Amino acid sequence: MNRRIAIASDHGGVELKAFLKQQTYAQPIEWIDLGTDSKESVDYPDYGFKLAEYVASQQAELGIAICGSGIGISIACNRHEDIRAAVCTNSTMARLTRIDNNANILCLGARIVGEILAKDIVDAFLDTPFEQGGRHERRVNKLKRTT
Ligand code: RB5
Repeated sequence: MNRRIAIASDHGGVELKAFLKQQTYAQPIEWIDLGTDSKESVDYPDYGFKLAEYVASQQAELGIAICGSGIGISIACNRHEDIRAAVCTNSTMARLTRIDNNANILCLGARIVGEILAKDIVDAFLDTPFEQGGRHERRVNKLKRTT
């Protein structure tokens, strides 16, 4: 069965988004592309919020968010209470943020990482499960707002 992965970017990430969608992954992926679709300037919060809502409502298993630095769109995604979005610049960070933080959105900076590195990072993120049931789960649960 295909994995449903949502992906969104601003204009700074539109080319990397297209590249990542064309690649082959360990399991077949059904991409849900939430835009943007051109290099015309747009605002990263709009795409971060849209992706966060999509992933938080479990319409996709995981999400990938791309802007120029990866930072702006990660801030936008993390405004949603049920999102743990992590900017990663290497595959070790991507693996650890799945194991430790149960990150549900990977954020990439298209002006920071090249295409091949980005693909490695996405592979690590998609192929690593959360380490459930122990100290990591307790800590992730503490991230939830109580007020
Ligand atoms: C867009 O030029 C740029 O500001 C944006 O992609 C991102 O890097 C913001 O954090």
